[in-house]
Amino acid sequence: MTNPLKGREQWATRIGLILAMAGNAVGLGNFLRFPTQAARNGGGAFMIPYFVSLLLLGIPLMWVEWSIGRYGGRHGQGTAPGIFQRLWRHPVAKYVGVLGVMLPLAIVIYYTYIESWTLAYSFFSVTQAFPDSATLEGMGNFLHSYQGISTGAGPFPSILTAYIFFLITITLNVIILSRGIARGIELLAKIAMPILFIFAIILVIRIFTLDFATPPPPHSVSEGIGFIWNPDYSRLSDSSVWLAAAGQVFFTLSIGTGSIITYASYLRAQDDIALTGLTTSMTNTFCEVILGGSIAIPVAVAYFGLTQTQGIAEEGSFNLAFQAMPIIFQKLPAGTLFGSLWFLLLFFAGITSSVALATPAMAFLQDELGMTRRKAAIGLGVLMFVCCQPIIFFLQYGFMDEFDFWAGTFGLVVFCFIEVLLFGWVFGMDKAWQELNLGAEIRVPKIFYYIIKYVTPLFLGTLLVTWFYQDAWGILILRDVPEGYGLYRLGARALMAMLFIGLVFLVWKTWKGRKENHVDA
Ligand code: PHE
Repeated sequence: MTNPLKGREQWATRIGLILAMAGNAVGLGNFLRFPTQAARNGGGAFMIPYFVSLLLLGIPLMWVEWSIGRYGGRHGQGTAPGIFQRLWRHPVAKYVGVLGVMLPLAIVIYYTYIESWTLAYSFFSVTQAFPDSATLEGMGNFLHSYQGISTGAGPFPSILTAYIFFLITITLNVIILSRGIARGIELLAKIAMPILFIFAIILVIRIFTLDFATPPPPHSVSEGIGFIWNPDYSRLSDSSVWLAAAGQVFFTLSIGTGSIITYASYLRAQDDIALTGLTTSMTNTFCEVILGGSIAIPVAVAYFGLTQTQGIAEEGSFNLAFQAMPIIFQKLPAGTLFGSLWFLLLFFAGITSSVALATPAMAFLQDELGMTRRKAAIGLGVLMFVCCQPIIFFLQYGFMDEFDFWAGTFGLVVFCFIEVLLFGWVFGMDKAWQELNLGAEIRVPKIFYYIIKYVTPLFLGTLLVTWFYQDAWGILILRDVPEGYGLYRLGARALMAMLFIGLVFLVWKTWKGRKENHVDA
């Protein structure tokens, strides 16, 4: 048996690490999901729960995951099954940890598909393949043809095109993953992140200096900014806004999936995590509320007005980005250029996150099953491709929505709840605090000791209990799902369950093998 301590990779440079961690966090969540969530949940009403969740959940949990990850890496382990087993010496710990491989795997399956849309739409923007003087309806048809939900917007946007771009995207991901941490992921981040910042800043400047020449739109960019930034206290007692805000904070910071844990496991034992963890959280927040909040919403409000913009966001998670934005870019001088920048920006944001989502599974295959990097990357690519088929073909029945809800929203909260209890209570808060402060380049305010120990778990527990109380049953029995869709939704749940069970089996087999060989794990 190979010594797991030997041969684990490491980040090559500090700046590379920061960019890779920022690349992990900054993703489609920042530029696509955030504006949609903000528009759906009342703009200024959303931002207060958002910042509260960032402070009481986001930042503490980020530190927890960095600490857990570096601790695991020091012991030759990079994924939750092994690390949880070390934090909590109980036989079920490793099975609980399976969530930390299964959740990011389930997310990456649909995430990569959406990422491939952004690549396709960059191509459509450059080649001006969109219908001339498109309307919301026209662009909606275009999107639906591309998704294979309807035909009729011409031969170009079709499921075949979607398939080709998906294959290209998966291949790119596999190539990067097979190059490893420093030569793959870190290098990608060093190239993609600066480009992403520049594109985003150019777009923000363009939008802030917009006058839409002739004819002037009936609304203005500042109306859109005001919508997000004028605090609205009236919906603070609405628990669904709180759930949405906390969910967004988890998703955007990449916490609750095991992905940050695995990235942090490639740190050196003495590397700072307090300052670097905070820096990446702040970089992500900047990209989300300043850059992400200044593109889609303000320009859509200026063009379509507030009510219609909210309607667009309400109708579908992707309509703001893939339906409304291309129309607006058509109206702008040099719109082809800005439209291409927008979709390429989304693609760069997406790919630096999809490799992060795939990394826990990669590390699991390498560290626990002893696979080579290349084999692991190819195997994972094939698995992602196969599992994505129902998502591609049953898109209109909500197959993806089901994945996004259980793995991408609910699962994250559960995972965070478990890990914060394990770290702060089972492992012990004093040891946990020491771990966080080891090699620290800032002094973490002592108040976070109490936040991590009491406030974060209580907050998470309350969120979960409220959810169970208010929504769980209806969701479980598919109450609001249109007739005929239920079977597909159950199919999605079955597929997720299969991923989980498959991983549980692998963990069981590996640990059994180790016991027989008397290897301590
Ligand atoms: N944070 C990423 C985004 O905002 C998504 C992600 C979630 C990536 C979990 C890795 C792990 O798009």
